[in-house]
Amino acid sequence: MAKKTRDSWGSRLGIIMAVAGSAVGLGNFLRFPVQAAQNGGGAFMIPYFIALLLVGIPLMWVEWGIGRYGGGFEHSTAPGVFHSIWRKNRFIKYFGVIGIFGPLVIMIYYTYIESWTLAYSFFSITQKYAAIGDQSTMQAFLRGFQGLEKNAFFSSIAPAYTFFLITFVVNMVVLNHGIRGGIEKFCKFAIPILFVFAIVLVVRVLTLGVPDITRPTWNITNGLGYLWNPDFSLLKSAKVWLAATGQIFFTLSVGIGVILTYASYLKKGDDVALSGLMAVSMNEMAEVILGASIVIPAAFVFFGPVAIGDIANSGAFNLGFVTMPLIFGKLPFSEILGFLWFGLLFLAGVTSSVSLAQPAVAFLEDEFNLTRKKAVSIFAVATFTLCNGAIFFLGKGVVDELDFWGGTFCLTVFATVEVILFAWVFGIDKAWEEMHHGADMRIPKIYKFIIKYVTQTFLLVILGTWFFQEWLPIIAMKNVPAETSGYILATRVGLLLLFLVLAVLVKIAWRKRKLNSSVIEG
Ligand code: PFF
Repeated sequence: MAKKTRDSWGSRLGIIMAVAGSAVGLGNFLRFPVQAAQNGGGAFMIPYFIALLLVGIPLMWVEWGIGRYGGGFEHSTAPGVFHSIWRKNRFIKYFGVIGIFGPLVIMIYYTYIESWTLAYSFFSITQKYAAIGDQSTMQAFLRGFQGLEKNAFFSSIAPAYTFFLITFVVNMVVLNHGIRGGIEKFCKFAIPILFVFAIVLVVRVLTLGVPDITRPTWNITNGLGYLWNPDFSLLKSAKVWLAATGQIFFTLSVGIGVILTYASYLKKGDDVALSGLMAVSMNEMAEVILGASIVIPAAFVFFGPVAIGDIANSGAFNLGFVTMPLIFGKLPFSEILGFLWFGLLFLAGVTSSVSLAQPAVAFLEDEFNLTRKKAVSIFAVATFTLCNGAIFFLGKGVVDELDFWGGTFCLTVFATVEVILFAWVFGIDKAWEEMHHGADMRIPKIYKFIIKYVTQTFLLVILGTWFFQEWLPIIAMKNVPAETSGYILATRVGLLLLFLVLAVLVKIAWRKRKLNSSVIEG
């Protein structure tokens, strides 16, 4: 069989931008502020930074390290990478399936939400929602758009479907151009633009002052205070720690196989230590500085200290797609501000969703020796079909279900497996050497200890706590309303089937490889 040449990154800046692109996403601007506001404000930042230092940063280095190592054996995805690390174990490649399955599950709903941001950029510029001035009408606009109800604004889901199609095609075009020509190029263009958009919005929010002089306490200082003043009593709650750790995983895109795939396109002598840290820093800047300074402070200034609690509890979608358009509507140049906000989310979304797609595409390319175009085509047909579930059954809780299994469960399990593999099976001394090969900085020695003992203990405690507290109610679907339980069950069966299909593909790929190598040896 003719071997294709492996794709690679064009420059160091390129991979840093791509990893930062994967990390900076809807999670930074929507998920983070809501998580922080709901979980103790300033106090949330304590478990958040602890999780960043003990789990996030170590996992980033581990994924860059094992990804580049696996790339040396022409593997870009977790089944092959894990197998390269632990050759004697026949089962470890099946754990690696999570590294394709997890990103795919997230991609199925993430791309759909991303397409709303494109639609709303368009609606902002064309002033489609400009006349709406109250929460419930703006909510109706969103529900109409999502196809959850027919109303004066939307009579069908067709507009949402059209924007989804466009978004999906944009993603596939970027993927079709490969690592260097597609993902790297797109991220190098999108990341600076989205930072500029975000900075403009932050400046606008911070200069809001006191929009209503009859309510002088509804000001920006108190708005920032709402997010940052700590409520330390919440630190005793396991839920807050889980939420903070979950946010670190989600925002950094670590623990799911995506960064591992990106790093596999590095060359052996390329730096991973400093580059990994730079990508983390860019993400944290976008999250803690920019993400935290837009939605919550703006909503506080316009809706006040009482309503803000309900707004934050109404979730990230409401905040992003209902509250923000209402706020922009009260300001001059509302259509431009709306465009900047949703345009920013769209660019942040695309640079993340292509990273979610790449493991599955790379798996088809590497393990079945397909051309990139063929791999992208097969991937496009399969994923497009699956996305319809998220689109048409949004109101039945399917998206939350996918988010739980892909974005929480798979992530924690995969992260635990990869750290144990690297630190214990590969061995921490070898792992340390691997991470420093070609490195432009020395990782502080304490991290050798952290990676070997602390990161996985932290992960195992979280997994254990979660298992004892929530496993039974989740499996028994205790908190699922009766009207949607059929849909949730169907989603679970679908996910199980998807996992099995991927596991069977891994089995077939390995059998083929074995046959090929025995033909060559014979
Ligand atoms: N980090 C992205 C965000 O903050 O929106 C989401 C994400 C992308 C999660 C890629 C996981 C992943 F593998």
